[in-house]
Amino acid sequence: MKQENCEPHGVHSHKPNVVYGFEPKILAFCCHYCAYSSADLAGSMRIQYPPNVRIIRTPCTGRLETEYFMKAFENGADGVLVAGCLEGGCHFVEGNLCAKRRVNYTREILEEIGLEKERLRMVNVSAAMARPLADMIIDMVETVRKLGPSPIRQSSFAEATEDKIGASKQESRK
Ligand code: FES
Repeated sequence: MKQENCEPHGVHSHKPNVVYGFEPKILAFCCHYCAYSSADLAGSMRIQYPPNVRIIRTPCTGRLETEYFMKAFENGADGVLVAGCLEGGCHFVEGNLCAKRRVNYTREILEEIGLEKERLRMVNVSAAMARPLADMIIDMVETVRKLGPSPIRQSSFAEATEDKIGASKQESRK
């Protein structure tokens, strides 16, 4: 089964913006059936990944709206990871494909408001892919570490984001 990530690991076009001592905060939305189970398995197998990641379990990534990703940035996340089942393996049939469209749409919004799209990424894993998931998390943390702290935390971006959220609500549900 094909595994597709929105961003090639370790590849992004922005110059590194190394801030000494910066530890990125990453919010990871993990679907219950595969990604969360995989993260759980990583714990059981003592496979380590950085503590920078906070995991939120969701029934399916298809439940996630653009609004959720933008709110995560507004509330201080430097990066957002969406981890769903492998394509073709979603327990709600096409939830992960919906999520993929919404993630890609949100990445466009991020660019419009001056935030690097690499701060948002979707990955697909099975429940048994503990090691690959840990590697994806590590890669995400390193990517965001190079980008530096999210400027959206400095609230000049907050209003623009609110406007975009409002405008995108209808669009993202398509
Ligand atoms: Fe995992 Fe839908 S159940 S992405």
